[in-house]
Amino acid sequence: MLYFTYTIRPAIAGEQQEVMMAQGPYSDTVMDHFEHPRNMGEMDGADGMAQVGNPACGDVTRIFLKIENDRIVDVKFKTFGCAAAIASSSMTTELIKGKTIDEALKLTNEIVARELGGLPEAKMHCSVMAEEALRAAIEDYRKKQGEQGDP
Ligand code: FES
Repeated sequence: MLYFTYTIRPAIAGEQQEVMMAQGPYSDTVMDHFEHPRNMGEMDGADGMAQVGNPACGDVTRIFLKIENDRIVDVKFKTFGCAAAIASSSMTTELIKGKTIDEALKLTNEIVARELGGLPEAKMHCSVMAEEALRAAIEDYRKKQGEQGDP
């Protein structure tokens, strides 16, 4: 099923090339996070980092965490995926920034989808990557902490 269509009109004299996008089934909040992703990028020296893939489509999300005193003080993400996956990653970063690790671990993809104003049922699986990447990044952080604590 096609969720997005991009129509690229050839530039006419003096006129910029215009890209029009049909919204499809997505909420305004999804579109906002897709078009203006928050906290997108990479992070040097992340305290926790993980990459997960979506076996259903081969898309990938990477999350980087900066953690101080058990609190997520900074987060970045990179997602290779559809609009729902990018918006879910973006919303996830917004919802966990400033939260403790325990609070962040309570975040589920259902909460993220709800905060996005809902996702089409067929796109719910796209919201799972951000949750899994977050959990794996926290696990990576804890593993590193454990290694540092080892004698
Ligand atoms: Fe791959 Fe949405 S289609 S994450």
